[in-house]
Amino acid sequence: MNIIRILTKSTMKPTCRIFLSHRNSLFFNTNYQSNIDPLRVLGSLRGIHNTHKAFRLPGSGFGQSKVITRPNDGFGSTPSRVVLVLSRVASYSTTVETRVNDKSFERIYVQGGAGVNVKPLVVERIDNDENIIGEEESRIEVNGDGVGGGHANVGNSEGLSESKVAREESQAEKEAWTLLREAVVMYCGTPVGTVAANDPGDKQPLNYDQVFIRDFVPSALTFLLKGEGEIVRNFLLHTLQLQSWEKTVDCYSPGQGLMPASFKVRTVALDENKYEEVLDPDFGESAIGRVAPVDSGLWWIILLRAYGKLTGDYALQERVDVQTGLKMILNLCLTDGFDMFPSLLVTDGSCMIDRRMGIHGHPLEIQALFYSALRCSREMLAVNDGSNNLVRAINNRLSALSFHIREYYWVDMKKINEIYRYKTEEYSMDAINKFNIYPEQIPSWLMDWIPEKGGYMMGNLQPAHMDFRFFTLGNLWSIVSSLGTPKQNTAILNLIEAKWDDIVGHMPLKIGYPAVENEEWRIITGSDPKNTPWSYHNGGSWPTLLWQFTLACIKMGRLELAQKAVALAEKRLPLDRWPEYYDTRTGKFIGKQARLYQTWTIAGFLASKMLLENPEMASLLFWEEDYELLEICVCALSKSGRKKCSRFAAKSQILV
Ligand code: GLC
Repeated sequence: MNIIRILTKSTMKPTCRIFLSHRNSLFFNTNYQSNIDPLRVLGSLRGIHNTHKAFRLPGSGFGQSKVITRPNDGFGSTPSRVVLVLSRVASYSTTVETRVNDKSFERIYVQGGAGVNVKPLVVERIDNDENIIGEEESRIEVNGDGVGGGHANVGNSEGLSESKVAREESQAEKEAWTLLREAVVMYCGTPVGTVAANDPGDKQPLNYDQVFIRDFVPSALTFLLKGEGEIVRNFLLHTLQLQSWEKTVDCYSPGQGLMPASFKVRTVALDENKYEEVLDPDFGESAIGRVAPVDSGLWWIILLRAYGKLTGDYALQERVDVQTGLKMILNLCLTDGFDMFPSLLVTDGSCMIDRRMGIHGHPLEIQALFYSALRCSREMLAVNDGSNNLVRAINNRLSALSFHIREYYWVDMKKINEIYRYKTEEYSMDAINKFNIYPEQIPSWLMDWIPEKGGYMMGNLQPAHMDFRFFTLGNLWSIVSSLGTPKQNTAILNLIEAKWDDIVGHMPLKIGYPAVENEEWRIITGSDPKNTPWSYHNGGSWPTLLWQFTLACIKMGRLELAQKAVALAEKRLPLDRWPEYYDTRTGKFIGKQARLYQTWTIAGFLASKMLLENPEMASLLFWEEDYELLEICVCALSKSGRKKCSRFAAKSQILV
């Protein structure tokens, strides 16, 4: 097993060696220096002076960074051991360009010749030299203060305050807090995440004893809302170190920048009585079905922004290694392929639904998270000469993506009627039925189900294919991120209200509606016995979705809907021992193979309670309509002669 050593800051207690393991040959070792990606190495020394963030809101605390801002990037003034490393890697520079829409937007200097598949390592630090370590940045900083210990500038935020008079917690909340704290995973004495499930009766935990990136998000928000930022900070930095340097599935190594689906802390024997802890990531190469965790990087970006917003510690996102990680994820998502659409093309099972469920192509969930992550990045990216093109690419993609989803994914009575009357085989730029949808595709359940008031974003759209299933997470994130228009967002909640028994029923919330059954189940799931109709991903009910529902309701001023759902969950979850999911049409039974004491069920409940109690903090986690983006979109359309170009026009278009 290969081990990378990182020494920690002298002020940290206790001095701890952190070992990151990796399956591939990436030592921080003179023999392997060509594998070092100096982005992180150089980045850690560069600082980000002369840069600014284009879209930071007022009062966001920019400028608190501890990054060293030496003129000329200060190679001459760097610590001797660091210089040694840098001078080695500097001689291997090559340039790699990534392109977006034919415009080069990011020029990355990758050291090590063929080092496209290299992982940024961390420079070894010298603990006993305070001059060297004093103000330095860009390192995993280990703090033994427990979950809430204090590097994060908690309390200095836009939203987080101690001002709320504490309400007496309910029994359910007290139990949830105890369970959440028991789920915390420690690494070298510091909290770095929470296990997916802590079910004592589970004979076969598979990977549920790991820290999943997506599962940790509600835990993170719960801790942040409680004023405990350290675990989130540690999580963000450690997963950054795990970011794919050489993910391999058999003999193949796909793209740089991928975030793992999950990681595990392993204890490794060094020699007789000595043990070391290592972080072991899974990029899908061990996962059931070998699914690619496309959503991990998107969640990482969303969490990075939330951490800044809720703690006021913007220095973290300003760090050069963090900025580099951010750009790597964005580059991976924005790279050109063969696709014709602005939406992301992915394989089946690349998100929360991580098994075959017929969601390959352009599933809504990924598009909504992608859109949210782009909006986050727009706020966080340091703008300088090196990132201008990337920022432009983000803006263009945001506009195109929102237009695409608003226009083509939207379903309501009117739209179904339009599709019902579609002409097919239209060849021209002016085609109305652009994707050549055959009206026979409209499923019979939908005709009866669609309410007169309300609508939703469909699950997927491809040539001659519309997936009309309602997927909850994607619809909720369309609201939260303003991917939908204000009218559409209101209509989505109206639909959930109108279809309460189907989408909430006995337990909030259905992952998707309806289930696929019979022959369709056989073809779509591959006869998956875990995804039988109305179970698990196939129409099961997932209490973790509650926090995202709550957030969407707060944004749209529909608190009463969230309160009703939270009350339902509060009554059942502790009695049922916090299951992962529920089965049947209305979510009546604990899921067939559901884990108990599932952490994101617990955290989702707690986060919902806290958000309801602090709607002003919730407001830091969602976005309003952005007219600047609409303007870009309307201008782009005007070039094709379709729309008039102005902000006023943008506001008055169907887009709003
Ligand atoms: C299941 C879920 C996935 C989750 C994992 C750990 O595989 O489908 O979304 O991340 O369990 O809880």
